[in-house]
Amino acid sequence: MHCNWMLSFVVGLLLNASVESKRRGRGHTVQLVRNSNREDSLKTLQFETTALQSKFRLRVSRTKANVTAQSEPQLPLGNAYNTEYYGEIQIGSSQKFKVLFDTASSNLWVPSIQCPPDNCTRLHRYNSSLSSSHVANGKPFQIQYATRNNQPTILKGFLSADNVTLAGLSIKRQTFAEITSLPPGIFSRANFDGIFGLGLKEIAIDGIVPPIYNLFQQGLISQPTFSIYLNRTNTGVVDSNGGKLILGPSDQTLYSGCMTYVPLSKIGYWQLTVGSIVMGNDKELCSKCEAIVDSGTSLIVAPRAALKSINTILGLTENDKRDGVYTVACSRISSLPKITLNIGRRDFVLSPADYVIQYKNVCVSGFTSLEGLGKELTDEQGTEYDNLWVLGLVFMGPYYIEFDIEYKRIGLASKM
Ligand SMILES: *[C@@H]1O[C@H](CO)[C@@H](O)[C@H](O)[C@H]1NC(C)=O
Ligand SMILES: *[C@@H]1O[C@H](CO)[C@@H](O)[C@H](O)[C@H]1NC(C)=O
Ligand SMILES: *[C@@H]1O[C@H](CO)[C@@H](O)[C@H](O)[C@H]1NC(C)=O
Ligand SMILES: *[C@@H]1O[C@H](CO)[C@@H](O)[C@H](O)[C@H]1NC(C)=O
Ligand SMILES: *[C@@H]1O[C@H](CO)[C@@H](O)[C@H](O)[C@H]1NC(C)=O
Repeated sequence: MHCNWMLSFVVGLLLNASVESKRRGRGHTVQLVRNSNREDSLKTLQFETTALQSKFRLRVSRTKANVTAQSEPQLPLGNAYNTEYYGEIQIGSSQKFKVLFDTASSNLWVPSIQCPPDNCTRLHRYNSSLSSSHVANGKPFQIQYATRNNQPTILKGFLSADNVTLAGLSIKRQTFAEITSLPPGIFSRANFDGIFGLGLKEIAIDGIVPPIYNLFQQGLISQPTFSIYLNRTNTGVVDSNGGKLILGPSDQTLYSGCMTYVPLSKIGYWQLTVGSIVMGNDKELCSKCEAIVDSGTSLIVAPRAALKSINTILGLTENDKRDGVYTVACSRISSLPKITLNIGRRDFVLSPADYVIQYKNVCVSGFTSLEGLGKELTDEQGTEYDNLWVLGLVFMGPYYIEFDIEYKRIGLASKM
């Protein structure tokens, strides 16, 4: 169900935008248009139109691209152990890469043919000599990630441009990084070759226009939004039906009920203010909590004090800690409390089955903290991220999430 259908209809009518009405035209919207051929009903609608238009000016004035795509392009995702979601892209006319889709960074990189094979073991490497559409750039590039042990990992390389194709859409001259220097083994167990940043341009390194922006600017998608639908697996294996990355308008067949939209609280990450986070029925872990939605993080990263409370409630101690995560007896899952995040005045509930990741007989709590690293993580304005929640895949799993670059907002709905 698309909950602002009236508005959608209005938009289509006013702008006479075929794409807009096509994408909005599912379900009862189109029927309403067709049935309202009597003058008086049209008038009523137009009256409402004016009211709605001024109230929702932003929506009505959404920037339009000259779109050639016929339906919402979707990229199937692979899911490895519920901790990594990735999909295939092509660079140039033939070179294919698996990339992790990361909403908390805004650059695309793949390993370069110049990365020594021992350092880039098992990874596909981009060979620009094999691509006639390659455009040399050569400017040095560097990106840093916090990896599982909270060690900063620095990747180095240089910039290149080429056509980048995903979900059948070919972006012309996308600038990306070829990584030449990689600590050995860092991604050798990963199921992906590179990373595809889905973050805002404000955090793109060197101001490089992120691919998702180019998709829109080159008229390949009708609006600058994308959505993520994750399929969780309880078999703890690699699943090729891992979900979808939807480019452009949301796919209404993948969610149910209303989409709840919340504005970004800060432009940079996909950051929002969560009204409250409550464990069980009444243990409030925080109110007006700042959080980022991050598909590049497997778990939910909580501020240290909150993690302590969570672990107390879950009955976990430091003895349960293995490699930075807390293990839980799988038999206890059904007796654990739910956790409720109030976002946009609506409750988004995670059941223990949502927040405990199961690998055969081993169960891992979906909560961790950025020990040691939190204090050093500051952005350009000097904001400390010590109190930031990172809503990773554990949070995203049960929901359909839309990311809107133009309106700087996030939409959340229950998965169909
Ligand atoms: C849209 O693109 C088509 C084909 O590329 C072109 O003929 C048409 O003039 C464009 N329309 C606008 C409004 O730019
Ligand atoms: C890259 O492609 C070129 C052109 O086909 C080829 O000569 C070269 O050997 C390739 N480099 C590597 C390291 O495979
Ligand atoms: C690939 O890139 C070249 C040069 O940038 C461009 O002329 C060509 O149209 C692109 N091909 C596609 C399919 O986008
Ligand atoms: C490759 O790995 C070695 C360690 O085995 C490291 O010393 C070297 O700097 C790495 N090279 C590159 C180009 O990343
Ligand atoms: C989710 O997984 C199920 C079972 O593997 C599959 O049938 C379904 O198509 C998947 N959904 C998506 C959107 O990938």
